[in-house]
Amino acid sequence: ELGQFRHYMQKEIFEQPQALGNTLEMIAGGGAISPQHFGARAAEIFDGVRRVLVLACGTSYHAGLVARYWLESVAKIPTTVEIASEYRYRESVPEADTLVVVISQSGETADTLAALKHAKTLGMARTLAICNVPESAIVRESALRFITRAGPEIGVASTKAFTTQLAALALLTLALAKLNGRLPEAEEQRHLTALRHLPVAVQKVLELEPEIEKWAQRFASKEHALFLGRGRHWPIAMEGALKLKEISYIHAEAYAAGELKHGPLALVDKDMPVIAVSPADELLEKLKSNLQEVRARGGELYVFADAGSEIPESEGVHILHMPEHYGMLSPVLHVIPLQLLSYHAALVKGTDVDKPRNLAKSVTVE
Ligand code: F6R
Repeated sequence: ELGQFRHYMQKEIFEQPQALGNTLEMIAGGGAISPQHFGARAAEIFDGVRRVLVLACGTSYHAGLVARYWLESVAKIPTTVEIASEYRYRESVPEADTLVVVISQSGETADTLAALKHAKTLGMARTLAICNVPESAIVRESALRFITRAGPEIGVASTKAFTTQLAALALLTLALAKLNGRLPEAEEQRHLTALRHLPVAVQKVLELEPEIEKWAQRFASKEHALFLGRGRHWPIAMEGALKLKEISYIHAEAYAAGELKHGPLALVDKDMPVIAVSPADELLEKLKSNLQEVRARGGELYVFADAGSEIPESEGVHILHMPEHYGMLSPVLHVIPLQLLSYHAALVKGTDVDKPRNLAKSVTVE
C-alpha cells in the first residue's frame, strides 16, 4: 500500500497535489465560485451572515487561523477563530448573524463536536462543517457541509487534510466575497486560475525534498526550535512547530515575528535554530529585521523564502527558495517544506513517524 514511500506520512505529503485537485474539482474547467459548493441551502443560509466563528482543534484550528486573514481581507467579514475546547466551556456572547464553521479531518473530535452543539444551543443555527469524512458526527450536526477529498489520512500527523481544508476555506472566502459584492469578475478569474494551478504549484514545492532532507540532518540533534511568521504565515509557523513537536519530539514554539523582542529573543543562542516563513509579501522587510536580531545573537537561521526575494545566504543563514510566490494562497505552499522538515527530522531521530507516542488519530474523548 505504501508503494515507493517509507511511511504513510510521507505518502500523504506527496498525495497533496492529487488531494487538492480532487477537492477543487468543482472549479476545474469552467466552474465558477458558488455557494452551491457548500450545499443546496447555502445561498439562503449565507444570506445576512455578518461574521464568522471558526471552531476546531490542533492542525484544523491552524487552518481556521489562516482563513481569518482571508475572510477579513478578501470578503471583509469579521472573523473569530477559537479552540473548540475553550469555546465549549467559556461564557461567550452569541450573535445570530454568525456563520459557525467547524473544521475537522475526522469529523469525530469530541471537543469540536461539543463546541458545535454548544453554538447551536446558543441560537446560532447557521453552521458549516468542513470535514474529510462524509458520514461523520460533525457533518451530521451541521446545516451545511463541504467534504474535503483528501482521501483516508492514516498518519497521525495531519498533512493532506490540512491543505485541503485550506482549499475549502479559500473557496468559502471567495463565495462569501462574491455574495457581498466584493469579488469583481476579473478578481474571481484571477483567484480561479491560482486555485486551478495549485496542484502543479504544490508538486514543484515537493521537489525541494532532497534539500530539506539535508537541513533535517542538522536539525535532528537540536532540543528546541523557534518558528517565526507574520500575517497569514504566522499560523503556518504554528503548524510547522506542531508538526516538529508531534513527530520528532523536538520542543518547538511559534511566534508572530513581531513578538520576538517582547520575550522569546532571550532564548536565542547558537543551540536554538530559528525557522522563518518568509514569503515575498508586504511584510518581508519587517521580517528581515527580525532575522538580523536573531543572527546578532548567534542563532542559526533557516529561511523559507520565495522566488526572487533578496535574502542573502551567509554564515549561519540557510535559505531555501520556493519555486514561486503565490499571493493569497501562499500558506498552502509554505506549509509543505515544514511538513517535510519534521518528517525528515523524525526519520533521523528514528521515532515512530506514523504513530507518535501518546497520540491518537481521532480524539473522540475530551
Ligand atoms: C496534528 C493533528 C491534530 C488534529 C486534531 C483535530 O497533526 O493531527 O492536531 O488536527 O486532533 O483533529 P480533527 O481535524 O480530526 O478534528
